[in-house]
Amino acid sequence: MSLRGVYSKREEINPTGSFKARGFSAAVTLLHERGVRKVAVNSNGNAAAALAAYAARAGMEAYVFVPKDCPGLIAMESVHYGAHTYLVDGYIQDAGRVVEDGAAEQGWVHVGTLREPGRAEGKKTMGLEVAEQLEWTLPDVILYPTGGGSGIIGLWRAFEQLRQLGWVQGELPRLIAVQESGCQPIVDLMRAYGSDNERPALADAAATAAPTGLRVPAPPDGHLIASILRRTGGDAISVTQEDIRGAAKELAAAGLTASPEGAAVWAGLLQLHDSGYFRGNETVVLFNTSHAVKYWPWSMPEPIPVVRSYADFKAVHPQAKGG
Ligand SMILES: Cc1ncc(COP(=O)(O)O)c(C=O)c1O
Repeated sequence: MSLRGVYSKREEINPTGSFKARGFSAAVTLLHERGVRKVAVNSNGNAAAALAAYAARAGMEAYVFVPKDCPGLIAMESVHYGAHTYLVDGYIQDAGRVVEDGAAEQGWVHVGTLREPGRAEGKKTMGLEVAEQLEWTLPDVILYPTGGGSGIIGLWRAFEQLRQLGWVQGELPRLIAVQESGCQPIVDLMRAYGSDNERPALADAAATAAPTGLRVPAPPDGHLIASILRRTGGDAISVTQEDIRGAAKELAAAGLTASPEGAAVWAGLLQLHDSGYFRGNETVVLFNTSHAVKYWPWSMPEPIPVVRSYADFKAVHPQAKGG
């Protein structure tokens, strides 16, 4: 089945290298207006870095708590912007408990997923830009790498409001949440819908999942995310870590940087295409939510060889014949 167009929404070009900058530019602005001076977040890494940057700009004190296996460069990014940065021995929800438990004594405002209105409002700009860049038409399908799901909320809200304003017409895009198979609570919720076990307990362990933004074993409101996906006629799918690595390599070979989350979406597109999901002549938007370099050495398959001479080069690269 051929598609009319496949577009990549390149969120890695945001100021802190991920789509998380959008939410925090709005959230920190709102909090600053209200005189908030101290904020804290639990995060898989990119949200922490984005909060750190915007809080620094607004003169706020930021406390960030990320899982201890958070990619090193991303954790260092928060330190770089001056946030008080802590590694937590656990998942993102365990980091969330530290923030909650400290709120009364520390007086910080908890800006974790769905804790305040600004982040979801800021993420709406992703949907507004998709519509604007496609000249006020909407794509048929959007694939979004989903952890806590606030990106899905932002996109849906943007499209719904544009439709109410009369700026776009017709069906909303079918939103497809892409997760990693080691941690797929939204996929599980979607599969369970309509069955006897319609509201399965969200998984609280994800021991095999990679430490990316997709690893959110207990999303704060998984049922809301699932209901948005259903309303748009969309779905949730999962891909393996092997799929993600393969997809990142393919994108790199085409000159495109992709974080593991962004690569998961490319893998998801291939999976849907192979299964005959698309209805023909459809337009698809893929969200590449962050930059590959933030996750290095994740995307480096092997060490880079060191050479001192051309002879060394020939030794480590015997196929090199020149010409
Ligand atoms: C690069 C990246 N992509 C996707 C996600 C998942 O986003 P959401 O929480 O909106 O589902 C995250 C969350 O940390 C992320 O950092």
